[in-house]
Amino acid sequence: MTDSSTGAILIAAARHAARNAHAPYSRFAVGAAVMLNDGRIITAANFENASYGLSLCAETVALAMVSSAGDLARVTEIGIVGGAMDSDGRPTGTSPVGPCGRCRQVINEAAQIGGRDVIVWCGAAEGDAVERYPLSLLLPHAFGPADLGLGKMN
Ligand code: THU
Repeated sequence: MTDSSTGAILIAAARHAARNAHAPYSRFAVGAAVMLNDGRIITAANFENASYGLSLCAETVALAMVSSAGDLARVTEIGIVGGAMDSDGRPTGTSPVGPCGRCRQVINEAAQIGGRDVIVWCGAAEGDAVERYPLSLLLPHAFGPADLGLGKMN
């Protein structure tokens, strides 16, 4: 499933996850929702740290959870939303947010291990704007497991 209804489900799940962002420093909440090939959805939010550089992006947290459960090769799609927090800590804004460069590389790990061009849905905290990209468009000529002799592992 890579249709827009899947995208809408992942964006809704990512919005829900973003409400638990620990982002008191940037006050920018991000949620990620990873779809597995058995229909399960794993969600996470960004997790900042008082030592700013140790902060973890929502996509990276979600994919670490997926990998830790032994499911990295099952990843098919990921939905991402983000927005500046209002005074109540709720994410706001209508501009879709894309994954940072490091997260693109982390998504690529799942993509190559699973042998799929993972679909990335980019949404905003509010509104209907959603963008759909295959990872290969966001991270062309990627370095990954294949360069180290690892093929598809599912
Ligand atoms: N952030 C993510 O969680 N994912 C991204 O792809 C971009 C940035 C987080 C990191 C930091 O907590 C906040 O957004 C502002 O950069």
